Amino acid sequence: MANGEMVMEPDSMPEALLAGIPVGGDRVRRHRLSTRLWHWLNAMTVTIMLMSGLMIFNAHPRLYWGQYGANPDTPWLEIGNAGGHGVLRIGSLALNTGMVLGLTRRPDGSLHATAFPGWMTIPTSYSLSDARMWHLAFALVLVAALLAYLVRSVINGHIRRDLAMRRGEWAPAHLWADIKQHALLRFPTGLAALKYNPLQKIAYGAVLFVMLPLVIATGTALSPGMDARLHWLVDVLGGRQSARSVHFLCAAGLVGFFAVHIAMVLLAGPINEVRSMITGWYVLPKERRAKAPAPGEEIAA
Ligand code: HEM
Repeated sequence: MANGEMVMEPDSMPEALLAGIPVGGDRVRRHRLSTRLWHWLNAMTVTIMLMSGLMIFNAHPRLYWGQYGANPDTPWLEIGNAGGHGVLRIGSLALNTGMVLGLTRRPDGSLHATAFPGWMTIPTSYSLSDARMWHLAFALVLVAALLAYLVRSVINGHIRRDLAMRRGEWAPAHLWADIKQHALLRFPTGLAALKYNPLQKIAYGAVLFVMLPLVIATGTALSPGMDARLHWLVDVLGGRQSARSVHFLCAAGLVGFFAVHIAMVLLAGPINEVRSMITGWYVLPKERRAKAPAPGEEIAA
């Protein structure tokens, strides 16, 4: 079907449309309104929570395992400074972080000892109480938006049809082929581009069903009000300091996902990709042409 508009979601092609299968260059419907609304609300919320979380971390830039921290003071992660530069310590490893983490230079040239610099935090100058207000207010948005999106995505079949791995997709050969395609930056074209590939599904699944729920559960355990009511949650998570460490690691995992996610969007064609997440409409990338035979070259039968 040339230049037509079709309403199709990844991997959910109704039989009736088979007669006019869209091809590269066609404009098709890609993301539902509920997915698009959640995606951008979540992106904003995660950014604000991350930046305010870094300010909360600045109040005590050390992480521990177990129930208690500070006494004895044996953090597994610490951001500080020594010898005129910042230092990130993870176990026995000490990394020189220059003037980025642990120590920064103010515009007037003076040195400022802080784990994360002001340009990474909300608010930009030290305030634990303001950071907590931002963090808790947007935690409510994060939870409400995720619940609404997940319920909607179960009802409209998005999780089953588009996000769930098919049995064959777990096969090592299938996953390896997908890894090679990514490494060669060969993205699917035509109708195949409508489906999420297995690595994409694994990454989205890790965010939606592991990292976000775990960051919410550990955050709930850390909140003093909830700690008093749901103390069993702190115990299940291995103690208050373990909950704080897991909370921080999940946030770091989300930052890692974000970096790869943005790189993939940029490589796959940022205008088409981002437009599809804003308007829902996506232009199928044109199919690759088969290489023309060289003069005199035989064409295999
Ligand atoms: C400026 C930042 C971001 C941009 C430009 C962006 C862009 C996109 C685009 C274009 C897609 C669709 C990919 C496709 O159709 O193949 C997508 C999907 C997705 N993004 Fe993002 N994204 C951003 C931030 C985030 C953040 C912060 C998260 C989570 C922490 C996130 C999680 C997801 C998930 C889970 C999906 C799949 C949604 C679904 O199909 O239900 N994104 N993103």
